[in-house]
Amino acid sequence: MKGIILVGGLGTRLYPMTRVTNKHLLPVGRFPMVYYPLHNLVEAGIRDILIVTGGNSVGAFMELLRDGREFGLDQLYFAYQHAPQGIADALRCAESFVDGDSCVVMLGDNILAGSIKPCVDKFREQKRGARVLLKEVSDPQRFGVAEFGPDGRITQILEKPADPPSNAAVIGVYMYDAQVWELLPTLRLSARGQYEVTDLSNAYLERGELEHDLIPFGWSDAGTPESLHRASEMMYSSDFLPELEEDCW
Ligand code: G1P
Repeated sequence: MKGIILVGGLGTRLYPMTRVTNKHLLPVGRFPMVYYPLHNLVEAGIRDILIVTGGNSVGAFMELLRDGREFGLDQLYFAYQHAPQGIADALRCAESFVDGDSCVVMLGDNILAGSIKPCVDKFREQKRGARVLLKEVSDPQRFGVAEFGPDGRITQILEKPADPPSNAAVIGVYMYDAQVWELLPTLRLSARGQYEVTDLSNAYLERGELEHDLIPFGWSDAGTPESLHRASEMMYSSDFLPELEEDCW
């Protein structure tokens, strides 16, 4: 199982904080934002992790994270996204790294106050398809939102719907088998000029191969001033924090 953290994009919703600095380097609680998804993947038992970056301060990620030793890793891997064309586009940069394995993809601005290990373990047992994580929120129109059938299975995911069919936001943690590489080229640019991760999930749904878990702990994105503040407050009072190796510099 490989891990991928997407930390590209221009972070325009956080201007001027992100005019010079990449969003994922901004502080959340006591750590730089990218430390949290890295902690989630390592804690779930994933040791081969690719950081996909683009936009501004790309070199800073290597300066900050180096070989991942602080997280107990032997090495970290880096890839460059040429133009910010969405999450599904950024994922294409990871194909040779994943090399036919399955993968867990995390958006670098998704901050979780709990472990994804139980969900990753279920995905390991799942053998085929994809798995997404959901969280009940009060403002679902800001996110990808799941619609459910009478059997409780997801029937459709809608990206930022004006009239959400449920309160279940699809958070930025996605698990894919190797079918992802044949599905990615079938996606079309959305109205906002991006290759949407929601279209990828719906492509798995059409194959009847999308599973989900509802997470029981706190979650926030950190892509707007309000959500960045909320994520920071959440992680100040959380005890699910990166456990860093000391004296590794
Ligand atoms: C992206 C996805 C959306 C998901 C969200 C989670 O939105 O497109 O489906 O719910 O991340 O943070 P974006 O941050 O690009 O607006």
